[in-house]
Amino acid sequence: MDIEKLGDKEFLKGLLIAADKYLDAFWIGEEEEMQVLEVIRSKRLGTKIGNKTKIFENKVAKYQDAKFAIATSSESTALSLCMATLAGPGDEVLIPAISSLATANCIVYNNAIPIFVDINPRTLNMDPNDLSKKITERTKAIIAVHIYGCPAEIDQIKKIGEENNLIVIEDCALAMGAKYSGKKIGTFGDIACFSFGAGKQLFTGEGGMITTNNEELAESISERNHHYGTQRNGRLIGTAEILGYNYKPTELTSAVGIAQMEKIDLLNQRRIENSAYLSIGLANLKNIELPYVPENVMHVFNEYVIKINETKANLTRDELWKTLVKNGIMADPLFDTPMYLEPSYRNKIGHGHRTHCPFDCPLYQGTANYEEGLCPIAENVLKKVLTISPHPGLNKKDLDKIISTIRSLIS
Ligand SMILES: Cc1ncc(COP(=O)(O)O)c(C=O)c1O
Repeated sequence: MDIEKLGDKEFLKGLLIAADKYLDAFWIGEEEEMQVLEVIRSKRLGTKIGNKTKIFENKVAKYQDAKFAIATSSESTALSLCMATLAGPGDEVLIPAISSLATANCIVYNNAIPIFVDINPRTLNMDPNDLSKKITERTKAIIAVHIYGCPAEIDQIKKIGEENNLIVIEDCALAMGAKYSGKKIGTFGDIACFSFGAGKQLFTGEGGMITTNNEELAESISERNHHYGTQRNGRLIGTAEILGYNYKPTELTSAVGIAQMEKIDLLNQRRIENSAYLSIGLANLKNIELPYVPENVMHVFNEYVIKINETKANLTRDELWKTLVKNGIMADPLFDTPMYLEPSYRNKIGHGHRTHCPFDCPLYQGTANYEEGLCPIAENVLKKVLTISPHPGLNKKDLDKIISTIRSLIS
């Protein structure tokens, strides 16, 4: 971030305080230190010569009750590997209007077309009704995102996938450990992808994971995570039968992941408790809507999402956001632009130097519509959304400050 460009000195000062406090969200301690030291001392820093990645994969597989887990350098690369396996030129993949662009870009990297689905205005997750409407004969897969820690309606999404012979990938970047109908998210779809970057439920610096129970998919994805994916007896270099990649993590990040896995439930518990405290403190304010938690879910509050009624509050969302930041509080509108309205999509900027490939690919028989009005609910509701981090590093004093700052501005 070019902080000079942010201008306002008070805002900048607050942002630096919030960012500094955010370091407390990362429970990186002696356990991680010992794990990493072991790798350094062994000199086995790469996955081919160490065992930390394998151990990390096994731990995540166990946590997710999955038969297979494949570690990657990030979730962006995890999603890209999945897309390389499942979709290509001429294909469409359905995704919600709101997510990190990683969820859309992984499709374009593989020359397939992202089709955007409107959202439920309360949970901000993909709307299964709109999902059904957007299926065509070109659709190959659905990526369901569990946004900001709140599980999507994954049973319905899975049912729609099954009825239409579509693979369902769960994007669990912001919701590892959350539950839907008592079952962990990431256990419903054919594949689940996780992120361990900053701000996620689990932190390894950068990092990602793919889990699945489908052996064929697991093999196909793993094979693609090598340039020479097919082993040859006695040779260090295998044979390249397919287009391969190297999206593997290092042993150092996997070592951190092993120690972090012991803390995931505790980290989530802290976020849940912090969010409950905020909700009690902010109860009865008429002009903001507090986070909605559907009855059948365990929400892990990657973010504490509020929606402001600007007219009634006589305050804009951005004024509230900036005041919170000036007070050293980590708040942001985050993903407030439906992805298709980002210039790269709206202008259909593709591969290479500003080509429109794959959007105008002759193999693609559909029309990628990235105009305003495509997902009206997302376009309307995201303007009101402000996310406040309920991260595990916050103490009671920090939470009280969030409450009093909002209460001083909103009735
Ligand atoms: C919903 C979602 N999916 C995917 C990603 C990509 O994860 P990574 O940063 O590990 O590439 C992110 C990152 O923020 C995300 O929020």
